[in-house]
Amino acid sequence: MRSEDLVLDVATGTGIIAEIFFRKAKAVVGLDFTQEMFKQALLRLNFMVNAQAEKLPFSDNAFDLVTCRQGLQFMDALKAVSQMHRVCKPGARSFWCSWWLWEMRIKNTRLRSRWPGSR
Ligand SMILES: C[S@@+](CC[C@H](N)C(=O)[O-])C[C@H]1O[C@@H](n2cnc3c(N)ncnc32)[C@H](O)[C@@H]1O
Repeated sequence: MRSEDLVLDVATGTGIIAEIFFRKAKAVVGLDFTQEMFKQALLRLNFMVNAQAEKLPFSDNAFDLVTCRQGLQFMDALKAVSQMHRVCKPGARSFWCSWWLWEMRIKNTRLRSRWPGSR
């Protein structure tokens, strides 16, 4: 993590994951489509965006790190991962975890074939 990094936490909820990067990165943006989460999340990040993960309202190559914990099971996972990939700068990192990916066999098939580095 570099102090100039821009971080996006998709499906941030109350911002628990975003908090890890708060004050370490230049800015941490939390995105969630549930507005009720905003109050708690805003204590842990710099910006909060109310939007769908499948249609991220950011330009291409915008972030140095994109995270998403326990959100993909509620989304169109392929669309959301494509969007997260799109907004990553070249060489940026993207971490997402969800118990559901394994169950749906997406991890080993479609996601892995598109993003061979995914584990
Ligand atoms: C189980 S919570 C995880 C919260 C947080 N990432 C964490 O690990 O504590 C799932 C979150 O995903 C959000 N969410 C679900 N579907 C979404 C979508 N399509 N776009 C954006 N946020 C979504 C929900 O509003 C909720 O806050």
